[in-house]
Amino acid sequence: MSDYVTKTADFVRNKLEGEGSGHDWWHILRVWNMAKELIDKIEKPVDILVVELAALLHDIADHKFHDGDLTVGPKVATEWLQSLRVDEKVIQHVSEIITDLSFKGADVETPMKTIEGEIVQDADRLDAIGAIGIARAFAYGGHKSRELYNPEVKPTMHSNFEAYRNDTGHTINHFYEKLFLLKDRMNTDVAKEIAKERHTFMELYVSRFLQEWDGIL
Ligand code: ADP
Ligand code: NI
Repeated sequence: MSDYVTKTADFVRNKLEGEGSGHDWWHILRVWNMAKELIDKIEKPVDILVVELAALLHDIADHKFHDGDLTVGPKVATEWLQSLRVDEKVIQHVSEIITDLSFKGADVETPMKTIEGEIVQDADRLDAIGAIGIARAFAYGGHKSRELYNPEVKPTMHSNFEAYRNDTGHTINHFYEKLFLLKDRMNTDVAKEIAKERHTFMELYVSRFLQEWDGIL
């Protein structure tokens, strides 16, 4: 493993260990591992160093915890990589991936410019769905004091980032506003395949949740 990657993993682990909103070190570790798995299955040349560094650093200073500011994460990542004297081109590529990565609303496109970016975005989004995705959504909702569910508040398909990030709705809405949309937004075929099963499981989960709520089950 590259020395840059080992040092970056230590840096991120120190910074995000014990984080309570579902953006902790274990999320980073899962995204990093998934990104490596996707690389193995993709038949295209991929810059592995860029993928690993971007996967490790993608949530180092997430906009959700910096008042919607999308520039803090890339800035912290850039400063860190410069301190390691990583090649400037690699730094720029990693920084660009972190800038573009995030989901910004149901009706906002978030295209990635390179295969490396597509891989990291897929790996991050796969961790937002399925059994782990469900756990993370409720952990995040709890962290933000959101209700689990409120039948009086319907989902909104946000048309811009500002509206998406200012929404304070309950966590079941988050499935409709983001999580159920992710399977059709995967970039790589491998991720599309993995997403299918995770998606079906989430649908089953939400349908049971709503049936229990209504006293049917
Ligand atoms: P992204 O940058 O695409 O938002 P992250 O890796 O930062 O992806 O993590 C997003 C995770 O945060 C989601 O999987 C979800 O669990 C949680 N999350 C974000 N917004 C909300 C919300 N409004 N309600 C519940 N969970 C949320
Ligand atoms: Ni993430």
